[in-house]
Amino acid sequence: MKSRELRRLYIDFFVQHGHKEIYSSSLIPENDPSVLFTTAGMHPLVPYLLGEKHPAGKRLTDFQKCLRTGDIDEVGDASHLTFFEMMGNWSLNDYFKKESISMSHEFLTKVLNIPQEKLSVSVFGGDELVPRDMETHDIWRSLGYPEDHIFYYTRKENWWGPAGETGPCGPDTEIFFDTGKPKCCPECGPSCNCGKYVEIWNNVFMEYNKTRDGQYIKMPIHNVDTGLGLERVLAIINNQKSVYDTELFRPIIHKIAEVTGVEYDGADEETTFAFRVIADHMRAATFVLGDDKAVTPSNVDQGYVLRRILRRTMRYLRKLNAPNGTMSQIARVIVENYSDIYDELDRNKEFIYAQIEKEETTFGKTIENGMKVASRVLEKLTPGNVVSGDIVFHLYDTFGFPLELTQELAAEKQLLVDVDGFNKKFEEHQEKSRAGAEKKFKGGLADTTAETSRLHTATHLLNGALRKVLGSDVYQRGSNITPERLRFDFSFDRKMTEEEIAEVTRIVNEAIQKDIPVICEEMSVEEAKAHGAIGVFGDKYGERVKVYTIGEYSKEICGGPHAERTGELKSFKILKEGSSSAGVRRIKAVIGC
Ligand code: ALA
Repeated sequence: MKSRELRRLYIDFFVQHGHKEIYSSSLIPENDPSVLFTTAGMHPLVPYLLGEKHPAGKRLTDFQKCLRTGDIDEVGDASHLTFFEMMGNWSLNDYFKKESISMSHEFLTKVLNIPQEKLSVSVFGGDELVPRDMETHDIWRSLGYPEDHIFYYTRKENWWGPAGETGPCGPDTEIFFDTGKPKCCPECGPSCNCGKYVEIWNNVFMEYNKTRDGQYIKMPIHNVDTGLGLERVLAIINNQKSVYDTELFRPIIHKIAEVTGVEYDGADEETTFAFRVIADHMRAATFVLGDDKAVTPSNVDQGYVLRRILRRTMRYLRKLNAPNGTMSQIARVIVENYSDIYDELDRNKEFIYAQIEKEETTFGKTIENGMKVASRVLEKLTPGNVVSGDIVFHLYDTFGFPLELTQELAAEKQLLVDVDGFNKKFEEHQEKSRAGAEKKFKGGLADTTAETSRLHTATHLLNGALRKVLGSDVYQRGSNITPERLRFDFSFDRKMTEEEIAEVTRIVNEAIQKDIPVICEEMSVEEAKAHGAIGVFGDKYGERVKVYTIGEYSKEICGGPHAERTGELKSFKILKEGSSSAGVRRIKAVIGC
């Protein structure tokens, strides 16, 4: 079965069960500073999982582009990926455990014809905060799953979310496919990562909201959030041993083999690993660059992850002696393979190739400079000496030298490397950046406090004012709100003048002083377009959206929530206007000052 058919089967099944199809959101979360990337299908739905009304109704389904860096060290095995597609279905305070589990079971065993005996499930085993989920256990039993196919695990395994620091979460039940490999040890079960069991579906019963002070508050509503891994299921139903054997990866693998002259099938472990990392990372990088948000490799945020992914790819391509320019050739295959499903890849393809080529050149130069420093340092040592952890870390941190590269250079001079010292420095650095990130990523979509709602409304007014002052070619490229400020990226290719900034500020403040009501109406995409609303349009006929209107100042498609009246914003001030990336400007602004 092809991936296209699998996506359709899934969506059609849930549409038949009363769900409305919605569309994959951007890989870069909108208005959510709590995570860098969309990591699950539920992510763009957070406000609705917290109780906002979704215009498409209470049952939703889609397939969503996701990116997770948490699994990056696992990439290279048969099933872990950084970029992947998650098929999902949601109940917004509608059906709950019984219907959700029964539908998952039916889809896997009746639609995909996966033998039930190949499936095992895990259930939340309970702790001091939330009891063991016997209801879920009983539902699985009633569907014919024997006791020895039901496993109880702790919060670590069977509690999902929130996606960022705060938001909806709850106990889950996971479905695993047994690959038929022998058990690695007597305790081997679905939570073991030996590869016998592959997790394919997670059904989360979201009844809790984790607050900013770390409490789990039971919500007055119950939701279901599920996620089924497209690549994994595709491999399973086609009897393929790994996701890299599926038609989503084969053309990429083939291209790497063609360019490097190295065979993939039957290759040794190290070569197989290199092929897989390259294929996975190139897919992730291509999708990040292909997103309309125009992320470029850099040293911060999404750009930093993108840079790391590309540089790691280059390192593995180097191992296969790939010529320069290989990365953009691989990206072309990916764009071709996916453009019929994700047309943004085709739209942004020249940008994708240009950025990849630029990063290849930049990294080449950095490595060259690093080589000079490395040889100067290593020359001072004599065979048998140890290269200190500090030096190895410096080469890593400043010149992007992976440990293995320094080890290779050291080995040529018969030097030893203090790997433990390097790991220690590395961990210290990780902790520092993690602490920094935690501080930075407060708030998020799940933050529906009055402050963030007001900033959200201010963002609409700003967008409207910018279009009035700078022209209607200006459109939103990104938005990020923390409780303290708003940040807004928009397409415009020069610095704004002081007069323009003053005029935009004046218009927004004028709207605030008039204390205009913020009106929300639900309508079809066609009606929204006819009313002149701006925003991201899905392309399906009849899709329902919310349109927020603020007098003559703004009319935008948006999920909300918003202030009720503009007067609540009190006042508006632009703190900074600067460049974000080529052709994109960034404004930081505050309200109530
Ligand atoms: N949000 C759940 C997950 O990502 C379905 O596993």
